[in-house]
Amino acid sequence: MSTVSADLVIVANRLPVDRVEQADGTPGWRTSPGGLVTAIEPVMRANDGTWIGWPGGTDADLEPFEADGMKLVPMSMTPEEIEGHYEGFSNATLWPLYHDLVAKPEFHREWWDSYVAVNRRFAEKAAELASEGATVWVHDYQMQLVPQMLRELRPDLRIGFYLHIPFPPAELFQQLPWRRQLLEGLLGADMVGFQLPGGAQNFVRLVRQRVGHKTHRDLVYLPDGRTVRAAAFPISIDAAGFEEMARSEPVAARAAEIREALGNPRKVFLGIDRLDYTKGIYARLRAFAELIEDGHFDVEDAVFVQVAVPSREQVEQYRILRDEIDRLVGRINGDLGRIGRPAISYLHSSYPREEMAALYRSADVMVVTPYRDGMNLVAKEYVACRFEDTGALVLSEFAGAADELRQAWLVNPYDINGMKSALLEAYRADDRETRRRMKAMRKTVTQNDVAAWADAFMADLAEVPGSHGKAVRPAKRS
Ligand code: G6P
Repeated sequence: MSTVSADLVIVANRLPVDRVEQADGTPGWRTSPGGLVTAIEPVMRANDGTWIGWPGGTDADLEPFEADGMKLVPMSMTPEEIEGHYEGFSNATLWPLYHDLVAKPEFHREWWDSYVAVNRRFAEKAAELASEGATVWVHDYQMQLVPQMLRELRPDLRIGFYLHIPFPPAELFQQLPWRRQLLEGLLGADMVGFQLPGGAQNFVRLVRQRVGHKTHRDLVYLPDGRTVRAAAFPISIDAAGFEEMARSEPVAARAAEIREALGNPRKVFLGIDRLDYTKGIYARLRAFAELIEDGHFDVEDAVFVQVAVPSREQVEQYRILRDEIDRLVGRINGDLGRIGRPAISYLHSSYPREEMAALYRSADVMVVTPYRDGMNLVAKEYVACRFEDTGALVLSEFAGAADELRQAWLVNPYDINGMKSALLEAYRADDRETRRRMKAMRKTVTQNDVAAWADAFMADLAEVPGSHGKAVRPAKRS
C-alpha cells in the first residue's frame, strides 16, 4: 500500500543518495554521482515532490524515507536487472550510442528485455504514488519507456520527460534494433525536453521518419489527438548556492591548504569528471604533459589536479579506461615528476560539494574536454565559484555548455595540438583577459540557473495543448 500521494513525482534511475557500506560495516548514505542529481535536487526541495529511484546496490524491501527534506522511494534492483538494465542496455548500449559512438555500443536482446521490465516497474510505482491529475517528471536515458507505460496506466497525469545526455542524429540512432519502441516510449509524454535544440530536432525528424506521425516544427501530432512538444531546456546548477559555498571561510581556508599541499605552484590546472570515456581525460593529460616536455613550463610552475570519480566500474569499457589512465599518470609522473612534485596529482575518489568548491577556488585553469557531453555542469560550477572574476576555463566545443559559455577557451578535444595551444594560452593569459571572459560567463550562469531551467520546463509543460493535470509551483530561487 502506498504511504504517499504526490502532486509531483520525479522518476529517475537513481535516487539522490546512494547506499554505501561505511568503514565499520554498517550501511550509510552518500550523495549520488553525476549531473542529474545535482540539477534535480534543488527543484525537489522547492516542490515537495516524491522521488522514485534506485539507491544503488541490491538491497530489497527498502521503505520510503526522507532525506534532507526530500521524500524518497527506493526501488530495488536484482543482480540480473543491474546487469541487464543498468550496466547493459543503459550503459553499454544507449550511453555510447547517444555519445557519438565514442565507444562501440553492444546490442543484446536479453538486455533489452531487462530494460523493458525495469521501466515497467518504475512506471507502475509512479502510477501508484501520483495523485489525481499530478505531474510526473521522468528523467534520462535509463527510463525512456516510462512515459508511454505510465500514460496507459494513468491517462489523467501530466507527464514530462527530460533527457540529460545528447540525443543523437538519426544516422546513429537508426542502428538501434528497438528504435521505434524507444521513440514511442518517449511519445507517452506531453513534452520531451533536451539539452540543446539539435537534440529536439533529431527527435522530431526520427519520429516523422520512423514512426510516421505528422510533425510541425517542435510539435508531434498523434493519431489519438494528443500533441507532444519537443524542445530544448539547457540545464544548469544552483549558481547562488555554489557561490555562497565558495565564498565561505572554511572553503577559502581549504583552498589555501590545497595550494600549499601542492607546493604553491604558479598555476593549478584542474579536471573533475566521472571516470568516463566520453570525458576525454586521457588526451587532456597527454596535452598537459607534452607542454612540460616541450619546455613551456616546469613542474615547479604548474601542476594538474585530476579528480576521477569512480563510475560504472563493472562495465568493461570503464575498467579498461581506468587501467589506461592509471598507466598514463604513472608514466607521466615517472618521466616528468620530481620528489614531492608530481606533474599530475591524480585522485580516484568522490568528494563532498564543499571539497569540490575548494578545488574550484584553488584552480587557475579548469579543463573540461569531453568528446561529447549533454551539458557538463562541472564547467558551470567552476564559473559559479569564481566570484572574484578570476580563472580560465578551457572547454570542449562538444559539451552542451559550450553553447552558452562562449568566452571559454574553446577546443576540439580530438586535436591534441589545438588543445596544447589553448592550455598554454589559458596558462599565459593576463588578468585583464581572464577577467573579461569570466565576468561574461558568470553573468550567463547566474542568470540561467537551475531554478530558471525547472521553471521554464514546468511552465511549458503546463501549456502543451491537450495535456492534463494540476499546475506545479515554480522552483524557489536560493
Ligand atoms: C550522468 C547521467 C545520469 C547518471 C549519472 C551518474 O549524469 O545523465 O543519469 O545518473 O551520469 O551515472 P550513474 O551510472 O552512476 O547513475
